[in-house]
Amino acid sequence: DGDVFTFDPGFTSTASCQSSITYIDGDLGELLHRGYPIDELADKSHYLEVCYLLLYGELPTAAQLEDFETRVTRHTMLHEQMQYFFRGFRRDAHPMAIMVGVVGAMSAFYHDSTDISDPWQREVAAIRMIAKMPTIAAWAYKYSIGQPFVYPRNNLDYAANFLHMCFAVPSEEYVVDPILAKAMDRIMMLHADHEQNASTSTVRLAGSSGANPFASIAAGIACLWGPAHGGANQACLEMLRQIGTVDNIPEYIKRAKDKDDPFRLMGFGHRVYKNFDPRAKVMKESADEVLNLLGIEDNETLKVAKELERIALEDEFFVEKKLYPNVDFYSGIILEAMGFPTSMFTPIFALSRTVGWISQWKEMIGDPQQKIGRPRQLYTGAPRRSYSEVEDR
Ligand code: SDX
Repeated sequence: DGDVFTFDPGFTSTASCQSSITYIDGDLGELLHRGYPIDELADKSHYLEVCYLLLYGELPTAAQLEDFETRVTRHTMLHEQMQYFFRGFRRDAHPMAIMVGVVGAMSAFYHDSTDISDPWQREVAAIRMIAKMPTIAAWAYKYSIGQPFVYPRNNLDYAANFLHMCFAVPSEEYVVDPILAKAMDRIMMLHADHEQNASTSTVRLAGSSGANPFASIAAGIACLWGPAHGGANQACLEMLRQIGTVDNIPEYIKRAKDKDDPFRLMGFGHRVYKNFDPRAKVMKESADEVLNLLGIEDNETLKVAKELERIALEDEFFVEKKLYPNVDFYSGIILEAMGFPTSMFTPIFALSRTVGWISQWKEMIGDPQQKIGRPRQLYTGAPRRSYSEVEDR
């Protein structure tokens, strides 16, 4: 029909949608949620307040926040029958495989929040997703280590509840360290939303067909799993461990610069940021804070990370390509210090990002002009031609 298409390998220059939720300036290294800078929110707010802001557009009053936190808290339990989904997996299944399966199955349990034409059902689906993801992630972890599921506690705040479900056991009292709960809450805030990244775009595309919210979020979880995206925090820590000591860094820097070597510095680079990822700065401060509080200042992995960052930021290859640490560079160091295995890093990213996914899904579905997404292509295949019989080929 005469449209002229230009091929952009990463679709960074063509807007795929309009949104009022998050703004990123890649050159400035700025990230705003409904106009509020991420570093201010990370310093002064907390995760459920940021969830309210992302969902409804404004910071809540005290009464609004209390009501929202109560609604989320009272949806943290899973339907008891859903435990059987976890038990169908092998114990060594990656927790992301379990999350994709269990979240996709939620539409079979929560029928009263799957009709996307009903604003009330859309609202309930959002609350349920935010509320239940920590339980799903924690139970995937418990299942992988052969420990019993721990139920959510309504007297704990969101981050503390997640840590309690992960690390408590029925045989003794487990008191969540408030410092770790604060660090976990900050990690959740830093991952809450990030404009039209690959997994959010996946949720929007899946939801644009009218798929129910749980199926659309399951599609986003699957996309986030990739090492180029949310899987980078796990890959980054494994890379830092592989490097091992500061002396080995130059060899890996050389490999990262070699186009013929598939090795990339995990936790470095970004489709949009051509400056420091503002979340990485806050994450780096948190890493120092948490490790000092846990008395593991001489953490070799942190030393390698800091020296790797210092060398890379001075190296002309990385400077020229504008490669800076991203949100995944330091997060794994904090999560490992908290006691999580690397397999839980991406599930924690997923549960934190659920509010971004569901807020953007609600924004899209609530738009009466919304149509099904339909990316086009630049065709590079054979011109029209006639069928040839097998004996003539
Ligand atoms: C997340 O989109 C989002 O917002 C994502 C995210 C979110 O919150 O949702 O921010 C979360 O996914 C962060 C990114 C986590 N991924 C990693 O840390 C994996 C390692 N990084 C890369 O694989 C890479 O940087 C990407 C995938 C993130 C971006 O890849 P691009 O699009 O190729 O990066 P670019 O356009 O910025 O690359 C510029 C150049 C390229 O070389 P040329 O083609 O110009 O020759 O730099 C090279 C890249 O090949 N490059 C790297 C590199 N990252 C990019 N070279 C070595 N090491 C790296 N890490």
